[in-house]
Amino acid sequence: KPRLFSGMQPSADSLHAGNYIGALLQWKQLQQDHDAVFCVVDLHAITVPQDPAKLREATRRTAAQYIAAGIDPGSSILFVQSQVSAHAEAAWVLSTITGFGEAGRMIQFKDKSAKQGADSTTVGLFTYPILQAADILLYDAEIVPVGEDQRQHVELTRDLAQRFNSRFGETFVVPEVRIRKETAKVYDLQNPGSKMSKSGESENGIIWLLDDPAVTAKKIKSAVTDTERDIRFDPATKPGVSNLLTLLSVLGGSSIPALEAEFAGRGYGDLKSETADAVVAAFAPVRERALELLADPAELDRMLTVNAERADAIAGATLARIYDRVGFLPRV
Ligand code: TYM
Repeated sequence: KPRLFSGMQPSADSLHAGNYIGALLQWKQLQQDHDAVFCVVDLHAITVPQDPAKLREATRRTAAQYIAAGIDPGSSILFVQSQVSAHAEAAWVLSTITGFGEAGRMIQFKDKSAKQGADSTTVGLFTYPILQAADILLYDAEIVPVGEDQRQHVELTRDLAQRFNSRFGETFVVPEVRIRKETAKVYDLQNPGSKMSKSGESENGIIWLLDDPAVTAKKIKSAVTDTERDIRFDPATKPGVSNLLTLLSVLGGSSIPALEAEFAGRGYGDLKSETADAVVAAFAPVRERALELLADPAELDRMLTVNAERADAIAGATLARIYDRVGFLPRV
C-alpha cells in the first residue's frame, strides 16, 4: 500500500469544520487503501506562544478527535510529533539546504509574521515549513492529503527532497499533495471571503467540532449570505451561499447540482436550517465519541505511546539514512 502522511496542529478546545472537512474526512477515506501515518504536530504549535498545561491538553484533545472522526490507531499510525525525536533532527539537516529567500517566500509565514510584527516573530515560525518537510520525508510518504492552505508547504517539501537527492544520492521519496477540490477551503460563516481558521475574527464564524449542537445550529442559521434570493453555487459572487452548499453537499451526501435543483424557488432560511441539520448530524456522534475518549486520558496516552514507537521505527531508519548520506558517523 502507498504510504500517506498528514498532520494537524493541536487546537486548544476543538478542531473546526475546516479541519474536519478539509482534512479528517479525506484521511478517514484514504486510510483504507494507504499505509497511513497521522501526526499531532506539537513541535509546530510552539512556533506561537502556548500555555504548557493547555498545550498538553490540546494535544490529547486533538488525538481524541482524530479517533472520534474515524482514524483507526491500530491499522493507521496516530502519534504525537514531539514523542519521535527524528522530526527535530531531520529538520535541522533540511534547514541547511533551504534557502533563506526560499523560506521567506512562504505565504503562511508572511501572513503570520506580518500580523505579529518583526519583533515578536520567531525564527521557529520562519523554519516551520522545514519541520513540516521533515515530517513528510521521514516516512517516505507518497501522498500528503491537506487543505489548499498547505499546498505551498508540500511544494517546498518536494523541492527539498529533490535537492537532497541530487546532492547526496537517492534518499527521499518525492511526495505529492492531495487536495480534494470541493473541500479544499471551507470559509468563515461570518466572513465568507476568508477561510475558516481558529484565529478567525468572529467566534460566530467558526464551527467547532466539539461545540454544543445547539450552538453549532445557531451559528449556521446566522451565517452571512447575500441580498439576492436564489440558491446557486457561485463562490465568486455568492461566497456565503456557496459555502453552505459545500457543507450540505459534503456532509449530507447530495451533489451540488442536485441541491441547486432541490432548493429552486426556496429561501435562504431553508438552506440554512438543512445545512445546520446536516452538520449537527455529522458532528454530534464525533463529539460524543471524543468526549468519551477524553474521559480516560491514561488510556489515550498509552495508545499514543505505542503509536509513537511504531512511528519511531520508521522515522529512525530514515534519519539513519540521512545522517549517513551527509557524512556523519553512525548514530549510537
Ligand atoms: P493546520 O493544523 O492549520 O490544519 C490542519 C488541516 O486542516 C486543513 N484546513 C482546512 N481545510 C479546508 N478549509 C479550511 N478552512 C481549513 N483550515 C485548515 C489544513 O489544510 C490541514 O490539512 N502545517 C500544517 C500541519 C502539518 C502538516 C505536516 C500537514 C505539519 N506537518 C505534514 C501535512 C503534512 C498545519 O498547520 O495545518
